[in-house]
Amino acid sequence: MDDELNALRRTRMRWNTPLSEPHADLLLDRMALDAGRLVDLGCGWGELLLRAAARAPGLRATGVDTDVTGLDRGRAVAASRGLAVDFAESDAATWDVPAERVFCIGAAHIFGSTTAALEAIAGVVRPSGRLLYGDGFWAAAPGPAAREIFGPDLLTLPDLLDAVAGAGWRVLHFSTADQLEWDDFESTSRAAWAEWLVAHPADPRAGEIREWLDRRLRQYVRDYRGVLGFTYLVLGR
Ligand SMILES: C[S@@+](CC[C@H](N)C(=O)[O-])C[C@H]1O[C@@H](n2cnc3c(N)ncnc32)[C@H](O)[C@@H]1O
Repeated sequence: MDDELNALRRTRMRWNTPLSEPHADLLLDRMALDAGRLVDLGCGWGELLLRAAARAPGLRATGVDTDVTGLDRGRAVAASRGLAVDFAESDAATWDVPAERVFCIGAAHIFGSTTAALEAIAGVVRPSGRLLYGDGFWAAAPGPAAREIFGPDLLTLPDLLDAVAGAGWRVLHFSTADQLEWDDFESTSRAAWAEWLVAHPADPRAGEIREWLDRRLRQYVRDYRGVLGFTYLVLGR
């Protein structure tokens, strides 16, 4: 896919996770943001990080990601809102600057697995600090197609909570994405390309885009809607 369409792809997404505005506000409330360092490991374009920085101007906020397109979007939004948020192009798996508050949402794969992420991030969160951890789980028994898409490492919710406890974390807040959050996430992840396709049906790239959009919607509805869940945990230790 060319750079123009790649840059367009996620532009209709608020953030890259199934999360409504009120649910995001609730999570930020539960993070008790104040002063000190906040780091977002696998931040994407860092919309939640930017909102945290806007709420708590005393925070030193840093987003860490390897995707330059996302980082550039985050920097541009930070500048437009007058927010002093750093966006670092770096491997989050090796990030070792301790912080009072840490986000890791939809990014456990950076560390290899849920268990590995929970253990590694324990080394980044300062004592009495908090982690906002978002991760997928099997909400219902997956069929072969869902297993093929999401791999062998996803846990059930009880097993995920066992992994949390096993890594020494205490759950301060627990919630899961609801169906509307999922449907909106999937819709917005397709929207920019779907709108482009409607406007450019004869473009030489249209066939590839149409195939991707149709496959993604088919997979969602047939293979993982209601099967893949997503949980948000505020954790302390
Ligand atoms: C599902 S997205 C979640 C983004 C963001 N947390 C959010 O909620 O919008 C996962 C992110 O992990 C990033 N990522 C993948 N490997 C990485 C690595 N080794 N270090 C840092 N970020 C990485 C991807 O570029 C992507 O932005």
